[in-house]
Order: sequence, then structure tokens, then C-alpha cells
Amino acid sequence: MRIGVIGVGVMGSNHARVLTGLPGAELIGVADPDMRQADFVARTLGCAAVASVEQLLDLNVDAVTIAAPTHLHRDIALACIARGVHVMVEKPIASSVEEGREIIAAARRAGLTLMVGHVERFNPAVEAIKEAIRNEDILSIAITRVGPFPPRMSNVGVVIDLAVHDIDLIRWFTDSEIVDVQPQLSSAMAEREDIALLQFRTASGVLAHINTNWLTPFKARSVTVATRGKYIMADLLTRQVTECFGFQPDGSYSMRHLSVGHAEPLRSELLAFLRAVRSGSAAAVTGEEGVASLEIAIRCLASRPATAAASVRQAPRVVAG
Ligand SMILES: NC(=O)c1ccc[n+]([C@@H]2O[C@H](COP(=O)([O-])OP(=O)(O)OC[C@H]3O[C@@H](n4cnc5c(N)ncnc54)[C@H](O)[C@@H]3O)[C@@H](O)[C@H]2O)c1
Repeated sequence: MRIGVIGVGVMGSNHARVLTGLPGAELIGVADPDMRQADFVARTLGCAAVASVEQLLDLNVDAVTIAAPTHLHRDIALACIARGVHVMVEKPIASSVEEGREIIAAARRAGLTLMVGHVERFNPAVEAIKEAIRNEDILSIAITRVGPFPPRMSNVGVVIDLAVHDIDLIRWFTDSEIVDVQPQLSSAMAEREDIALLQFRTASGVLAHINTNWLTPFKARSVTVATRGKYIMADLLTRQVTECFGFQPDGSYSMRHLSVGHAEPLRSELLAFLRAVRSGSAAAVTGEEGVASLEIAIRCLASRPATAAASVRQAPRVVAG
């Protein structure tokens, strides 16, 4: 399969690197208006560098991955679909639910594969959690995803950039849609929200909580899931997943580390995309799922109180003496 990558910044250059090593795939070229960056990636990986999407499509690619800034996803995806090219688009699927739906409709009309890059689903620690909670009665989920400010600020805040990963995980773990949203947002340093504490209830009755911010000096990603029979704790970075089970009336219980694979999540994700293109079967993360997660993220922002601007934190008062 002849593949191209559109946008080779932080994420797209990883797509390009991983695609060069995938069986049955040939990285034909990368497109980025920043030609220095496109040339650098293309020279390193041995493919063509072009400045525009149209030039990449002229190289007769069968499929592309789109890792350009989110506000361009819709236009770029529609241009590729119009030329009969299968699309994997980075998360979030688009800037708005309407734009996401336009991409879905175009791909469906053209009979092309559309997949959304919710790569965390392919994290082996996340896969181990999903397996551990199979057939369990899930009660609550708590996810922490914190870290420092990104080196280049885009025009989105922490909810659309980070929490959308976890909204997708909550929907996927529970196989249920989020029906209630209770967001608390604040802007400590940035213009947009840089701290978010989000609470949800799913249609199946699960309570879920996301704690995310850009104000932590190191990256941390953790997930805990309480079910009627188990308590699961996972570190998505070290990939250590532990479950407590066999709760006894005297308070004792058993504990074990779960076996977790080593695969690179992006490689697994791109392999899943190639499989969906080849087989014509549904993508592992469909456009509809990408839109559903984006819709919840946008609801979190929309329910921000009118006084949000006033919620920009003041500097702490100096304590005298
Ligand atoms: N799945 C994840 O974990 C993850 C992580 C980071 C970013 N992302 C997503 O990937 C996308 C890109 O984010 P990033 O952090 O790599 O951004 P980035 O700014 O590092 O890279 C974007 C690249 O797109 C290029 N670009 C701009 N206009 C273009 C156009 N018209 N055609 C082609 N390329 C164009 C830019 O020159 C830049 O090189 C965003 O949608 C973001 O949400 C996903």
C-alpha cells in the first residue's frame, strides 16, 4: 500500500518513522508547507518531500495519515477523500462536531476507510485494563493526565488537547456513552483552560473523573478502575497494571500484576488502519467514535460558566512575617 503523511511536526514525523517499518506499506512521501521540516523527515526516511496535499496526492498514494494542526483536518481529509484516498486522521477528528461529521459523510459516500488516531487505545497497559474489566460491573474510573506546557501552544486548551484521549477511554472501557458532564476549568497561565477537573456519568451508570493540566513539571498518566469485584491501578507510562481482587468480609484481598505487552502504540494503531483499509472492515476507532468524544469535550467547554474569564487565577497573596 502506498502511503503518505500530511503534516510532519511532532506527531506526523512519528507516523512517518513508524510507517517505514510496517509490512506491506511503502511510505511514498510527506507533505508539509514547512519544507525544511519535510525535507529533513524525507531525507532521514528515504521518501519524497512535497509542500502541499495536492502534490502528495499526485504521487498516487492509496492512503494518508493526517497530522496537520487540528483546524486543518476537515479540509485536508475532504481533499484526500475526493481523490479516493483512505484517511487516518489524528485526534481530535476536527475542530467541531459539524466538521467531523462532514468527514464521516464524505468517507462513507466514497466507500473509503476513515480512522481516528486515538492512540491511547493501543497502549498495551490500556489493552490490559480493557481485558481485566471484561464482564466486570464497572463502578467508577479515574484518570490523571498531567504534564508541562507543550513546547508549541496550539489554539486549543487542555480539554481538547489532552482530556479527549481520556473521554475516548471512558467511552471505550464502559462501552457506553457519556450522558452527564460536570466540568471545572481554570486558566492559571494560558489564555485557554490549562487545568480541568471533569466528572461524568455514563448511560450505563459509571462515574468517571479526569484530572488534567499543563502545570505539572513531569508527565504522569494513571488510570484506576473500580468494579464490583476488582480494583485496577495502571500507570500508562511505565505500563505497570495491578489488580486487587477476591475481597473478603474481613477486609483482606489478593493482588497481582497483570501481564502487559511491549508493542509501540502508534505501530499497533497504524497496523490496525492498514488492516481496515485492506479488509474494508470497520476501523478500530471510527469517525463516529472520534466525533462522540469530541462532542463531550466541547460540551465540557460549553458548560463553562459565563464568568470563566474571571476564573483566571490571581497570584497568591503574600504572607507577611
Ligand atoms: N495522538 C496523540 O497522542 C497526539 C499527540 C500530539 C498531537 N496530536 C495531534 O496531531 C496533530 C498535529 O499535532 P502536532 O503536535 O504534531 O503539531 P505540530 O505543530 O508539531 O505539527 C503540525 C505540522 O503540520 C504542518 N502543517 C501546517 N499546515 C499544513 C498543511 N496545510 N498541510 C500539511 N501540513 C501542514 C506544520 O508545518 C507542522 O509541521 C494535531 O491534530 C494534534 O491534536 C496527537
